[in-house]
Amino acid sequence: RILIIDFGSQVTQLIARRIREAGVYSEIVPFQSADKALDWPGLKGIILSGGPASVHEGGSPRAPERVFTRGLPVLGICYGEQTMCAQLGGKVEPSDHREFGKAFVEVKEANALFDGVWEKDERHQVWMSHGDRVSAIPSGFKAIATSEGAPFAAIADEQRQFYATQFHMEVVHTPDGAKLLANFARDICGCKGDWSMAHFKSEMVHKIKKQVGLDRVICGLSGGVDSAVTAVLIHEAIGEQLTCIFVDHGLMRLNEADEVVRLFREAYNIPLVHVDASKLFLRELEGVTDPEKKRKIIGKLFIDVFEAEAKKIGGAAYLAQGTLYPDVIESVSFTGGPSVTIKSHHNVGGLPERMNMKLVEPLRELFKDEVRLLGKELGLPPHFVGRHPFPGPGLAIRIPHDDITQEKLDILRKADAIYLDEIRKAGLYDAIWQAFAVLLPVRTVGVMGDGRTYDRVLGLRAVTSTDGMTAESYPFDHAFLARVATRIINEVKGVSRVVYDVTSKPPGTIEWE
Ligand code: XMP
Repeated sequence: RILIIDFGSQVTQLIARRIREAGVYSEIVPFQSADKALDWPGLKGIILSGGPASVHEGGSPRAPERVFTRGLPVLGICYGEQTMCAQLGGKVEPSDHREFGKAFVEVKEANALFDGVWEKDERHQVWMSHGDRVSAIPSGFKAIATSEGAPFAAIADEQRQFYATQFHMEVVHTPDGAKLLANFARDICGCKGDWSMAHFKSEMVHKIKKQVGLDRVICGLSGGVDSAVTAVLIHEAIGEQLTCIFVDHGLMRLNEADEVVRLFREAYNIPLVHVDASKLFLRELEGVTDPEKKRKIIGKLFIDVFEAEAKKIGGAAYLAQGTLYPDVIESVSFTGGPSVTIKSHHNVGGLPERMNMKLVEPLRELFKDEVRLLGKELGLPPHFVGRHPFPGPGLAIRIPHDDITQEKLDILRKADAIYLDEIRKAGLYDAIWQAFAVLLPVRTVGVMGDGRTYDRVLGLRAVTSTDGMTAESYPFDHAFLARVATRIINEVKGVSRVVYDVTSKPPGTIEWE
């Protein structure tokens, strides 16, 4: 396996994902606790991630010295390159030619990292994001690629098998990056490349058994794919030691709550407590318009209701959560990690400390599409695992800048169901990452029959994405959008106008609040 030492980059997890795609097992460890990991049995190589620090700052992170004396191949990426150079006797300085975004490198020397991918003298697109740059390389190294802003865009000491790049090869904007990482994992480190989701499943089943022992586990089902996959995986590991609690906040899409209950009780025979708390949620959300407040209220209520039910069941030492990697990275204020908070997702943090329970989070390293693969591996129905992601706070954050009432929820739910129905009929559901309707706090005039209406505006959103971290608006044809608009206005009382959102992420987010 490969050890990835994390210096806090937003995209460290993408390195792990690319290594998994190359059929190699990897684990990420924060730099503070990396020294111990260097003694892992079967360790074949080390990757140093990027990170927000500058090697010039006092106290900025360093790789444990043993990284360079263990006799294993090492790959440094961005900050990883800089700290590697600083630690091995090279020089890093602040650059007046900062590079952010797309850049081109010129290949200077053939080497094992580029083998079969890039040849000498070729120019290739890469993704850069750095202020500092390496200005002198340690002895034993040579430049293997250069860019305008970075004379040492890629360097290698082939004898010691140390490689480093200033560019981020883990992101899709470095089109050949995945191949370079596969070269490192397989050819340079000598990993076999036969690891798959089936291995992940059996390793996780093993880990869960070992972690939990004979204790009981409670899993909160949200109705979405992530918590369902978590529950089925844990059920496979420990069977009847698992109980699921489904806190139904009444903010789900049309018919979804029933579907989940049926799937768990009938298809899987997993013990499930279904709590209909919709009235309570509506009452507590009354008059609240601020999105972060909505999230906090929903998160807190969810915890309260869940906790009360869990107490009734009693005796569970573990709490299972379907936290995915993007939840972790976008909720780091809860987990104390080094990158920046964007939105406080309610499904991470708080609960285990309060309930004095330990956490089981088997999906923490995975991206959505990997969770779907795992779900299929576990035998969940394809239409279920293929469902678009749905935020924990549900429809409450799809009535932006407005308070939540039953009436608004009903309008939104109906319109959303029509939109999704048309998307399915057009055969576009699986090509889209996430599609949903948003009920706006704006009234506009319409004419219906002989009368004037003064009803709400409904926004439609559909995006493509591979991991939810970046997204593009889906390019529906006009006739499709017009058909959806007509159906919604005809069939849903309370909507007089429909608009389509064409914003990408970034700068927009997927949800409207
Ligand atoms: P954004 O809107 O941040 O969304 O681009 C990225 C992904 O996260 C989902 N999302 C949430 N999920 N609780 C969740 O569980 C939340 O508060 C939340 N906000 C956004 C969003 O649907 C998309 O899949």
